Amino acid sequence: MTTPVTWPAPYLLKFPKLGEPGEGWIAVGEEGTVPFPMRRSFWTYDTPDSILRGRHAHYQTQQVLVAAVGRIIVTVEHADRRISTFWLEDPAVGLYLPPNVWRTMQYAPLTLQIVVASTLYEEADYIRDYKQFRQVWG
Ligand code: TYD
Repeated sequence: MTTPVTWPAPYLLKFPKLGEPGEGWIAVGEEGTVPFPMRRSFWTYDTPDSILRGRHAHYQTQQVLVAAVGRIIVTVEHADRRISTFWLEDPAVGLYLPPNVWRTMQYAPLTLQIVVASTLYEEADYIRDYKQFRQVWG
């Protein structure tokens, strides 16, 4: 099920932002502002800051994560074992995650995370076992 392509490393992207201070903002995610055709969106909320979510990689799914409210600390382990940490706290900024990174997310209280994904939900696309992640992507 692996795809023989070279994936870009995770990176921060800026959504087009409309509005002005005192009026409020609209940030727009659509074809062209996200680097894949969007097939699913989900949101995560009420996660206590003592909980680490994620702990998985994927075979195919690409995602963009946004802290619509609050702050998310995302730690990714790349296929070459490098570790990167991203702080998401601007609703107009997204973090692109390719399938081949092991990710963990920690949420500040009251954080609302919005995720757009390149695939429909399918449990078979998850790699939840770290050893398997190393075998598939290492
Ligand atoms: P998971 O993606 O593992 O959450 P996180 O990475 O935030 O810790 O999903 C948690 C559970 O929810 C898991 O049993 C799969 C299920 N789920 C769906 O059924 N549909 C979805 O679109 C998502 C994202 C998760």
